[in-house]
Amino acid sequence: MNSKRPLVFVSAALPSDWVLRLASQFEVITGEDGVRSAAFAACRERIEALVALVTDHVNDALLATTPRLRIVANVAVGVDNIDLAACAKRGVLVTNTPDVLTESTADLAFGLLLAAARRIAEGDRLVRKGGFTGWTPTFMLGTRVHGATLGIVGLGRIGQAVARRARGFRMNVLYTQRTKLSEDIESALGATFVASLDDMLARADAVSIHCPLTAETRHLFSQGRLARMKHGSVLVNTARGPIVDEAALASALANGPLAAAGLDVYEAEPSVHHALLSQQNVVLAPHIGSADRTSREAMAAMAVDNVMRVLGGEPPLSPVESR
Ligand code: DGY
Repeated sequence: MNSKRPLVFVSAALPSDWVLRLASQFEVITGEDGVRSAAFAACRERIEALVALVTDHVNDALLATTPRLRIVANVAVGVDNIDLAACAKRGVLVTNTPDVLTESTADLAFGLLLAAARRIAEGDRLVRKGGFTGWTPTFMLGTRVHGATLGIVGLGRIGQAVARRARGFRMNVLYTQRTKLSEDIESALGATFVASLDDMLARADAVSIHCPLTAETRHLFSQGRLARMKHGSVLVNTARGPIVDEAALASALANGPLAAAGLDVYEAEPSVHHALLSQQNVVLAPHIGSADRTSREAMAAMAVDNVMRVLGGEPPLSPVESR
């Protein structure tokens, strides 16, 4: 049924009743499979706002089929699924959901670090299959986390939240990114800038990735770079899968230098490289960095607020600029 109210396409069921809030002012269609769904294809010419997920690829070809689209409200902080330049060219605003998921994602990164370094998931599997036959001094030895050196790639919001957790574990925190932060921020976090990623990798016992996925960071952790990591070190990725070459990671886990890894994101989600699936020393989480109830509620609320504001003629709360 075509109504006169602006049409909002919501890519998947959102937690709570945020869709009802949208529906009080707009026509709302919810798709089961995002922009790939038949529901999207059936109404694309009328859509004025798209509440998108990280699994929706919003590119120029798609935008060419949505002439009335005014806003893409991504329910995520990362926007690598959206062609920002194409949106800017067509006058489509893009928004994301920063801040509300920072601490949850840092919790998960730290959880993966602990689980990978201390072999928690591997131990759980072993106990379940009856492999725990008693304490011995050399049984399931892992890598020490407290007091170790943590290298953070990208000390933005989430990287800083990880650094705060690391301080509680008395870790020595290094970070690398394009720009050195102010000394005030560095000393509040107890973090030391290292200009070169390779230099940081040579010093870090554990490395946590918190940079966005861009053309420059795709396969930043290539075979060569993984080979330069410290012997026995641990790699954690809660940012975006394609930043790490998964095949090379599987080999660095099997043959060194890595002792373990914790991953929440993958190169071709929801697929995971087969060589990682058979590797015991990697903890594999299903992209749940922001998946605590409170954060997901807040992300949905923020995306809905952005849509309501833009369709109501106001500026969005969290616009993303085209890089
Ligand atoms: C994000 O916000 O970018 C996450 O990956 C979604 O949880």
